[in-house]
Amino acid sequence: MTSFTFARTPTLYLGAGRLGSLPDFLAVHRATRILLVTGSRSLRSSDRLERLERDLRGHGIAARSVAASGEPDPAFVDGTVQDLRGHLPDAVVAIGGGSVIDAGKAIAAMVMEEGSVTDYLEEVGSRTPSGKKLPFVALPTTAGTGSEATKNAVISRPGPGGFKKSLRHESYVPDVAIIDPELAVSCPPEVTAASGLDAITQLLEGFVSSSASPLTDALARSGLRSAGGSFERVAREDGSDVGARAQMGYAAFLSGVVLANAGLGVVHGIASPMGGLFPIPHGVVCGTLVAEATRVNLERLATGGSEEERCARAKYAEAGALLSGSDAGSLEANCERLVALLARWVEELRVPRLGAFGVSEQGLREVAAASGVKNGPVRLSPDEIYAIMAKRL
Ligand SMILES: [Fe+2]
Repeated sequence: MTSFTFARTPTLYLGAGRLGSLPDFLAVHRATRILLVTGSRSLRSSDRLERLERDLRGHGIAARSVAASGEPDPAFVDGTVQDLRGHLPDAVVAIGGGSVIDAGKAIAAMVMEEGSVTDYLEEVGSRTPSGKKLPFVALPTTAGTGSEATKNAVISRPGPGGFKKSLRHESYVPDVAIIDPELAVSCPPEVTAASGLDAITQLLEGFVSSSASPLTDALARSGLRSAGGSFERVAREDGSDVGARAQMGYAAFLSGVVLANAGLGVVHGIASPMGGLFPIPHGVVCGTLVAEATRVNLERLATGGSEEERCARAKYAEAGALLSGSDAGSLEANCERLVALLARWVEELRVPRLGAFGVSEQGLREVAAASGVKNGPVRLSPDEIYAIMAKRL
C-alpha cells in the first residue's frame, strides 16, 4: 500500500431531529454566548430559528445571529469580525448552505487574526493563518459542498479583477457537524439539484483522483452508493422524503471528507476561476459541467495504456454501477451508463447553461486560461477545457 495522510474529521451527529443535540453539546462545552450565522430564508421565515433560539435560552445560552447572503465576500467576514471584537462569543454555529458554513468557518478563524481575511487567502494574501479559531459547529441545510467536513472556507469577490479563493488550515475542519435531514426538506428543487450534483461531482472526482487512497476510496464508494439511491428522489420526486434527504446529507458529508483528503478534478479546476469572474452558484457550475467533463476524461482514458489510466477508467465504471444501482455487465457499459446518467440528470433537472449567467465565448477563454485539472486522471489543455465549457454555454 502506498503511504497517505488522512486529516481529522468533525464529530458527526446525523439523523432526523439531531438539531436538538446542539444546545446539549454547547452546554457540555460551557458555552453561554454563541454567534449564530444563518442565511437560509426558509430557516428565518419558518419558526425553526425562533424555536432554536428559545431552546438555547432554556439552556442558558444567549445567541446573537447574523445573516449571510450569497457566497461570503471579504467585506462581510471582516465586518462581522469587527463587530465581535472585544466581546467574543464562546462558539460559532453556522446553519445554512455551503456558503453560510464557509462564512461561519471564516469568522470563527478570523476573530483570532489581525487584518482582513483577504490577507490570509491562498494566492491572494501574503499572511499565513495561525490555525487558532473559536469552537465551530456546522449544520448544513443543503446536501452539497461538504463544507461541514472540510478545512477550507471559500471567499469570493466576483466581477472584474475578482477572485474565489480559500482560507485554509488543517485546524479549520469544523469541530462538530450536525446533519439533520429535517432542515433540508424545505430546500427548493433547483438548489437541491445543483448542490446534489456538486456532492456527486466531488465524490466522483475524489474517487478517480491521482491522490486517492484506499480510505478515501472506501468513503467515496459509500457516498456514491448513497447518492445513487437518493438523489433523484429528493431532486425530482419528493423533496420531503426525510430518509432520502438523510442519505444525500451523508453522501455530501463524505464528499467533503473525500475532497479534503484526495483532491478534486477538472470540474472544480474550472469552478474556482469561473466563480471569480461570473456570479454563478458553485453547484450550478459543477452540475452543468460534470457529464461533459466525465465524457471527455473517459474518451481520453480509453486510449491510455498506463496503470494509472486503467485504474481511473475502472473506477469510473464502478462509479457508474454505484450511482445507477446496478452493474451493466462490462467496464465499457458501466462507463457509458455513468455518462448517460449524469447527462440525463443535467437535462431532466434543467441545470442552467453557463450562458444564462451572461458568460460569453470570450469569458470562457479567460476561464480556460486560468483553469487546471487539479488531481484529475487526465491532463487537459486549455483548448480541451474550453471545449468542455463550450458544450454547456
Ligand atoms: Fe464543489
